[in-house]
Amino acid sequence: MSSPPPPPHFVFVSVFLFIFFLHHSVTTTIASSSSQTLNTNTESFINPKLPPRTLSSSKKFEGSSNLVHLRYHMGPVLSSSPINLYLVWYGLWNKPQKQLIKGFLLSLSPSTPPTPSPSVSDWWRTISLYTDQTGANVSRKVLIAGEYSDLKHSHGTQLTRLDIQQVIATAVKSAPFPVDHRNGVYLVLSSQDVVVQDFCRAVCGFHYFTFPSMVGYTIPYAWIGNSAKQCPEVCAYPFAIPGYMAGGGPGALLPPNRDIGVDGMISVIAHELAELATNPLVNAWYAGEDPTAPTEIGDLCEGLYGTGGGGGYIGQVMRDRGGRTYNLNGRWGKRFLVQWIWSPALQACAGPNALD
Ligand SMILES: *[C@@H]1O[C@H](CO)[C@@H](O)[C@H](O)[C@H]1NC(C)=O
Repeated sequence: MSSPPPPPHFVFVSVFLFIFFLHHSVTTTIASSSSQTLNTNTESFINPKLPPRTLSSSKKFEGSSNLVHLRYHMGPVLSSSPINLYLVWYGLWNKPQKQLIKGFLLSLSPSTPPTPSPSVSDWWRTISLYTDQTGANVSRKVLIAGEYSDLKHSHGTQLTRLDIQQVIATAVKSAPFPVDHRNGVYLVLSSQDVVVQDFCRAVCGFHYFTFPSMVGYTIPYAWIGNSAKQCPEVCAYPFAIPGYMAGGGPGALLPPNRDIGVDGMISVIAHELAELATNPLVNAWYAGEDPTAPTEIGDLCEGLYGTGGGGGYIGQVMRDRGGRTYNLNGRWGKRFLVQWIWSPALQACAGPNALD
């Protein structure tokens, strides 16, 4: 499917916003360099235009289109609450990396006291607007119910898509993962040394469901890889951009937590979880006529992070005083940059950092 060109007024608005925020950030910089003491907690807003990601963007609709026919195909959504995540850390992960990913996942549920908006749980609210045929919504609560570390790469460092199910089968056999038919979801996270079929060329992550012949039962799962060594300009975009060496050349945005691979992975995890929750057995919410290549609620908004995105612009996001880019607040003061998601209410891509 080819992507329709954005209407002219849309481009105009993007350019206008870009100039406005460029001006705004320049004035902020001047103000802060001439007078540090007056710059209390000023953070700037930016809407940068970046070279496109090299991964095929044929599925990208850039925000809003009458041509998008997202349909419900009568299957279940993840409506049982809470959604129990079982994490499989495949390969070598250090503690700060795990803490960062877990910090994001634990920020999906509403917390008390609430996280300052725009928050990660505000972002998940858009996903909880999807329902099944009984009218049950996707659960607002997401927990980490279990973890397993496969430090020794039990299935090697080169995996096919089907091998991911073997990795899950091994984790289920070796770890106390209950067979959680009602609420369970597996999340396989592979470290930067692991090569996965289609990784970097066609996908940065995917979701599907386990087969009884492989794992013993049918449970939704997702895989996401750390792209830091293999293709950050594809899967950790916009923290690395095409045409520059890994690590981010001029133009790439600074990641909110100083880890290009993991910060980039978090938006992909978010994308896959959103789709897993609304299309767990690949028979619920998707666009397009071909169920073997469905266009799902994350695909529709890839590369959009804020208002005024599209036509090469990522949309308006925040930049902290250290120059790091983010659009969502998580728990424990963590910040993340996460793509927007198609909203069934607005019939457009949406996120809690939208300008009113
Ligand atoms: C459930 O989804 C419907 C339809 O999108 C929405 O109007 C409603 O607010 C949602 N309910 C909750 C509790 O999120």
